[in-house]
Amino acid sequence: MMKPVRKAVFPVAGLGTRFLPATKAIPKEMLPLVDKPLLQYAVEEARAAGIEEFVFVTGRGKRAIEDHFDTDTELNRTLEARQNAEAMEAVRLTEANPGQVFYTRQQLPLGLGHAVWCARPLIGNEPFAIILPDDYVMSTVPCLQQMVEAYHRVGGNIVAVVDVPREDTKRYGILDIAEDDGTLAVIKGLVEKPKPEDAPSTLSIIGRYILQPEVFGFLDHHERGAGNEIQLTDSMAKLIGQQPFHGLRFEGKRFDCGDKVGFLEANIAHALQRPELAGKVREMLDRYC
Ligand code: G1P
Repeated sequence: MMKPVRKAVFPVAGLGTRFLPATKAIPKEMLPLVDKPLLQYAVEEARAAGIEEFVFVTGRGKRAIEDHFDTDTELNRTLEARQNAEAMEAVRLTEANPGQVFYTRQQLPLGLGHAVWCARPLIGNEPFAIILPDDYVMSTVPCLQQMVEAYHRVGGNIVAVVDVPREDTKRYGILDIAEDDGTLAVIKGLVEKPKPEDAPSTLSIIGRYILQPEVFGFLDHHERGAGNEIQLTDSMAKLIGQQPFHGLRFEGKRFDCGDKVGFLEANIAHALQRPELAGKVREMLDRYC
């Protein structure tokens, strides 16, 4: 029997240095696309994919995240008194179900692999998802849901992938592909941030994973990789051959919100999707082109 994917890890301990000074006192994951923090899109995507338990790996200066998913009785009372139904609904969507959200801290910035490893007692012995909120995916069917559907077909481990220009392989985890049917690629190797000339392909991992708990056995070794960090990619690579490992070309568009231009593009693309904003935003943009 294939165990369902019920838990998701959100690594949110990063310093957000690329967005300083905005991120000096505000976690980068709380930066909004129009009016909703990046992290909330990630949580809503996970919820849509059937995730029941939400594990946040936070760090110093990230308390705003806990407050965001908490219930603010005073705010609710004020909005109710003002009969502001729209704001009340927006706030309701931020409130986590009691007992379904967990916070742990990554005390030192040792890399994504280490951040995920910090969540191991909260995951236990079951498959789990990882969402990096920096990667915002705009799609008809939420990206993680597409992955869960693929997981039900092939099991094992799945990463969401996109093709990138060869000069960008140094920014991502890159696949070495055994077979490829155009949607699902069978992975025979993974390399973290290879130079363009060394990259085995141009298919890159985006911040969406479904992994088996055996990955923790490799993360336990705390081996350093690219950038002298403990890389998730390196431990995932060790699962290959022991368990199925696939890359899913999802339907949708990924925006790299860890990058300034990517973040601005996501804001504009998102605004243009919202019927109440699209017309005005288009007029506004026309004034600049
Ligand atoms: C991380 C992963 C990388 C992946 C990327 C997706 O890199 O290490 O394999 O391709 O996320 O956004 P980071 O963005 O933390 O440097």
